[in-house]
Amino acid sequence: MAEKKPGLAMHTNVDMSHQNTLIFKTKVFFDSLKTNGLKVTIDKLYQHFYYKVKGVDFSTQNLHDLTLTGDYKEHGTALVSTSKDFFSRIFSELETVAGKKIKKELFIDYGSGKGAALIHARALGFKEVYGVEFAKELHAVSINNIDKLGLQNIHALYQDATTFIPPKETTVIYFFNPFDQVVMEKVIANIVAQKAFFLDEVYLIYGRPTCGTLLDQSFQLLGTKEHESGAVVNYYKV
Ligand SMILES: C[S@@+](CC[C@H](N)C(=O)[O-])C[C@H]1O[C@@H](n2cnc3c(N)ncnc32)[C@H](O)[C@@H]1O
Repeated sequence: MAEKKPGLAMHTNVDMSHQNTLIFKTKVFFDSLKTNGLKVTIDKLYQHFYYKVKGVDFSTQNLHDLTLTGDYKEHGTALVSTSKDFFSRIFSELETVAGKKIKKELFIDYGSGKGAALIHARALGFKEVYGVEFAKELHAVSINNIDKLGLQNIHALYQDATTFIPPKETTVIYFFNPFDQVVMEKVIANIVAQKAFFLDEVYLIYGRPTCGTLLDQSFQLLGTKEHESGAVVNYYKV
């Protein structure tokens, strides 16, 4: 899939609710069978039902009626959760492009939605995980999801991303197309300002990189991968 222009198309007012329909889910199932094969697709289905049984909600949600905090309400994208297999895959791609094992010290998800990437990062072995989400209702669901799975050391914050300063222990930062360039510029500036204080190397994964050009100017682009689904992911060293 071609990259979208910064600030366009995936914006707050774009309706993503079709992703919750049976038709969409059936298409995803058959697409997965075709591209990933039976075993991976069965694993995905198992994961889906495991979350359902546990009462975990990662469903897609539009932002229009939600309570958004901060000054950038018009600059965010709708909630689409990262799936567990996609997350494992992008993390291993990061290690491939970095040419080394990445320290699983502290992970940050900017625009953490219902907490999917936070939960996957913890499952993958990150010691400490931070998420920043500006929609009150999505933040509440993330807290509920984390509770339902009985997970510790996940700090889900109800906060605008531009006001978050990454802790010095950070080793991986994640963006899954959370906002447009107006917010991204401020978030990048905060990360750059922290650079001298980071205790370790920091890597950044940017899924659906609508503001990729901005990041290319501030960080070292290690590689770009296009997945069979069409999702493009950029990998950086901060
Ligand atoms: C595409 S979703 C990604 C969800 C999550 N990162 C995941 O991978 O499951 C983008 C999220 O960014 C949040 N968001 C958008 N603008 C934000 C901002 N300025 N501050 C914090 N969160 C924001 C949206 O509410 C939405 O939950």
